[in-house]
Amino acid sequence: MKALLCKTLGLPDTLLLDEVPEPKPGPGQVLLEMRAAGVNFPDALLIQGKYQAKPALPFTPGSELAGVVLAVGAGVHNVKPGQRVMASCQMGAFAEQVLVDARQVLPMPDGLGFDVAAAFTLAFGTSYHALKGRANLKAGETLLVLGASGGVGLAAVQIGKALGARVIAAASSADKLALCQSNGADALINYHSEDLRTRLKELTDGKGPDVIYDPVGGHYAEPAFRSIAWGGRYLVVGFANGEIPVLPLNLPLLKGASIVGVFWGEFVKHQLPDFIQDLSAMFGLLSQGKLRPHISKSYPLAQGAQALQDLLERKVTGKVIITNGDVRAESVSDAAAGVVEAETTQAGDAAAVTLADTIQPADLASWVGRELGVSSWITLDQARIDAFAQCTQDQQWIHVDVPRAALESPFGGTIAHAFLSLSMIPVTMYELLVDRLRVQAVLNYGLDKTRFMAPVRSGQRVRNHIKVVALQNKGAGRWLLTTENTFEIEDQDKPALVAMTLGYLIE
Ligand SMILES: NC(=O)c1ccc[n+]([C@@H]2O[C@H](COP(=O)([O-])OP(=O)(O)OC[C@H]3O[C@@H](n4cnc5c(N)ncnc54)[C@H](OP(=O)(O)O)[C@@H]3O)[C@@H](O)[C@H]2O)c1
Repeated sequence: MKALLCKTLGLPDTLLLDEVPEPKPGPGQVLLEMRAAGVNFPDALLIQGKYQAKPALPFTPGSELAGVVLAVGAGVHNVKPGQRVMASCQMGAFAEQVLVDARQVLPMPDGLGFDVAAAFTLAFGTSYHALKGRANLKAGETLLVLGASGGVGLAAVQIGKALGARVIAAASSADKLALCQSNGADALINYHSEDLRTRLKELTDGKGPDVIYDPVGGHYAEPAFRSIAWGGRYLVVGFANGEIPVLPLNLPLLKGASIVGVFWGEFVKHQLPDFIQDLSAMFGLLSQGKLRPHISKSYPLAQGAQALQDLLERKVTGKVIITNGDVRAESVSDAAAGVVEAETTQAGDAAAVTLADTIQPADLASWVGRELGVSSWITLDQARIDAFAQCTQDQQWIHVDVPRAALESPFGGTIAHAFLSLSMIPVTMYELLVDRLRVQAVLNYGLDKTRFMAPVRSGQRVRNHIKVVALQNKGAGRWLLTTENTFEIEDQDKPALVAMTLGYLIE
């Protein structure tokens, strides 16, 4: 198989496309066929020996990718061959085949192309961690993003807007600023031709930005910091300019401000559950269309060195990727991917879905915003309705008096109690989650935003469509799962009810 090799440290033109032996997955490893790999500034630093990590030569750069699982090593249960996945790795992604740690592989959300999946995790993960986790950016605050048209910069613009901030984008050209504006920036500064401090004063009525996101460093850092608002947070993200700025320490004192370091790779290593929580929130924003990775250019693997060269020459905007084959969303079928195979049956209350595999609670992060599955049909017959009436002592005639309801009810017979349908949620949850997830229990403990939309007549069948809304890691093997439950009534468009539930998964 072919790989881009760094045999001597230097600029991208020293990289060589070479034939290397096909890797074999060891225990806990997954072998992927790379379809798209994200290109990031640290890749360009790594091959020059200018990054924190200094791998032994020769090595293949590239730290994130999306592709298809070719093989898994012993003990790997979270993915299987044929599945479409996205993954992070320290290096090695700029190759036809890539070995990764199974813990860093996630199934790709439905409808996502390999291109977007490969360009998402590092840039958006860094900016989300920086703005939400490190700066605690709040709605209504003002955010300044330097290098705002770059990979992490444009992600910060979109995330800042999604978090409700007013975003000022700063970049070096009119074209780059136009891109920032079309990605939601409220105000623009050309720091090449305009004075940063003067413009910041004008744009913030002299108050200054509350949060500054700086992936550039160099000579912009000090004027930016001098402009920061009282109690501001200055995020040190990177030094694309090449120069590590030095700030006088009286500045944070005078502004009551904080200088906050951001190191996403180490954050993932030290705080994996928090990263998974971030990912879950980001997939939610992605599915709502609030995040839209901008891929400005794709380079085939053979031209991978050019991608890094263009990055270093400030020629790229948003994200660029290296591709290997087809990157479209539907290039591998969901059936082959083994995600969920829906197979409805008309006979009795038999299972309506075939769940292809067991998954870990953490994997649910990639299901945020989409349907996890549909339960079996449940018949709400008169015996069930009568039992519920007895239990709750709700003996209203519309539920239990069959002869009277046949004559007087507008529904032509008795109807099930709305709360009877609602109380079917746990049984459907157990069917779809406990049997499938590697958990001991699902505890339903909360209900939110319930709407009863249509009556269920005695003898009708209902089934639950469960959508994952959010996943939160509560530590010690406990996960807080929010789901939206839609109870479909057989042969009817309008559902019986839609309800949000909160549940604990216990590993
Ligand atoms: N802390 C972390 O965890 C973390 C994670 C990922 C990336 N990073 C760092 O963040 C920085 C940006 O990464 P990225 O992937 O977003 O890179 P990128 O897409 O190339 O963006 C960098 C931006 O910096 C500006 N820039 C200013 N001087 C530059 C120069 N001499 N060369 C190149 N760009 C220059 C450019 O915008 P203008 O032309 O508009 O000035 C460019 O859009 C890098 O330093 C990277 O190492 C840090």
